[in-house]
Amino acid sequence: MKRILFVCLGNICRSPMAEGVFHHVAASRGLVPPVEVDSAGTGSWHVGNPPDGRAQAAAAARGVDISAQQARQIHADDFADFDLIIAMDRSNAANLEALAPQGQRTKIRLFLDFAPTATTREVPDPYYGGPEGFDQALDLIEAASHGLAEYIEAEVRS
Ligand code: 4NP
Repeated sequence: MKRILFVCLGNICRSPMAEGVFHHVAASRGLVPPVEVDSAGTGSWHVGNPPDGRAQAAAAARGVDISAQQARQIHADDFADFDLIIAMDRSNAANLEALAPQGQRTKIRLFLDFAPTATTREVPDPYYGGPEGFDQALDLIEAASHGLAEYIEAEVRS
């Protein structure tokens, strides 16, 4: 469970923030290495683009620099290359299930399943809203990142 891929729709808002925040949390707990992180979108519209400026600003305000990331689309080979494929919402998870090669669906998780006290199971898509949506998404992403780091710590030690 050391190679982790975060997935959303466009790979310019939620999954880049998740990649950056989780990397930050994992590094601060001494988990990098062995943990490696990446992110991808189920859609191809923004391939090659940096994260949305609002996502970059919201992450930077919490001390996380995501400016160097570049959007890419997930492909079926990612299921062999990663140990966990983490969806931001149920729509992403359904798209991942349709794409997963035989026997690889068990790698798919909903990110907020690692934040059991959150009142929602999905990170809302902030793309069409204002900057506050990015902060709300980051609150959920931070909570789930700590939960995921605890899960990985237990795996690494076992
Ligand atoms: P994300 O947000 O999935 O969190 O990266 C979106 C970004 C772009 C689009 C939709 C959602 N779009 O339709 O272009």
